[in-house]
Amino acid sequence: VTAEKGGFDHFMLKEIHEQPKAYRDTMRGRIDESGQSVVFPGLNLTEEKIRSLNSVHIVACGTAYHAGLVGGTVIEQLVRIPVANDVASEYRYRSPLITPETLVIVVSQSGETADTLAALREAKRNGAHVLAITNVVGSSIARDADDVIATLAGPEIAVASTKAYTSQLIAFYLFGLYLAQVRGTKSNEEVAHVIAAMQSLPEQLESMLANVEPIKAYAEEIAVHQNLFFIGRGMDYAVVQEGSLKLKEISYIHSEAYAAGELKHGTLALIEEGIPVIALATQENVLEKTVSNIKEVKARGAAVMAITHEEHVADLLRSVDQALSIPKTLSLLTPALSVVPLQLLAYYTSLARGNDVDKPRNLAKSVTVE
Ligand code: G6P
Repeated sequence: VTAEKGGFDHFMLKEIHEQPKAYRDTMRGRIDESGQSVVFPGLNLTEEKIRSLNSVHIVACGTAYHAGLVGGTVIEQLVRIPVANDVASEYRYRSPLITPETLVIVVSQSGETADTLAALREAKRNGAHVLAITNVVGSSIARDADDVIATLAGPEIAVASTKAYTSQLIAFYLFGLYLAQVRGTKSNEEVAHVIAAMQSLPEQLESMLANVEPIKAYAEEIAVHQNLFFIGRGMDYAVVQEGSLKLKEISYIHSEAYAAGELKHGTLALIEEGIPVIALATQENVLEKTVSNIKEVKARGAAVMAITHEEHVADLLRSVDQALSIPKTLSLLTPALSVVPLQLLAYYTSLARGNDVDKPRNLAKSVTVE
């Protein structure tokens, strides 16, 4: 069994460490040799169809839904098409506005999630083109979709999804760039610039994974708490939702992920002396706003840990109790790095609490009933 885990104590830790490889594998063959553009050989979605699209719906469950939240922002920013994100169990019951000009993207690690499969079928019945982003090419969802972008994360065993999520992000970056190329919403130079930054991600991730001690120490601190909060804005908000889910799944600590600016509209009442707040503060355009939200919780006694880029650590340390840094990349790509400390935090907290990391109570890897 230890051999299966490649020398790691748990599948989850092994899979966290496999992420640099998953990034490389998911990018391979989808970037042309010059590194200037994205290619998707064999896509049924024609360029003409791409030009006619007027909306994108992204539908998924759990962690895949959270990847879709990042993906939606990526597509809106790169392509300027309106995107709606839905959890699959809600989507088909709210009579979504689906037309032949709607692209529906379903995201599923397993490709077997019943809610997502049902949403896919509903979308097809209404004439949408359905693209599946999945880790299992022979799955039901892959078979039923009009197109498939395979994430090449390799088999994921731990119930708590890690490398599948980050590979889904890579798939969204590539696909977003592809749409932008076809619709001409980004120049060749801009596309090449993002591609170059993407190609640095695996190495940046390797450097992060070589130094997990600070996260481990912080995990031991929070392991004794019953409640905590995650805050962030923009893409950071999408990422903390995944960080919070990860922590709930395997540590059984209650946590909430809040859009940092929304906290004051109610939930701030729950902030009391000593409660841990984890602030993800990587998005340059809203950094100052996030800092003022951090001050709001600090003033009510919260113990704040911030995750930010190296260059902002010194500044942030004036407002927070501790800070961790992540390597610098484009704001758009930051989720592919910033989620990793949150995955590790969930892992080490679960470990510190003596839980079964790979098989959390009440949860299944793949849920094939609605
Ligand atoms: C289950 C798993 C989650 C997963 C979700 C969607 O609930 O426990 O980790 O995110 O299903 O799974 P999928 O295979 O569709 O990505």
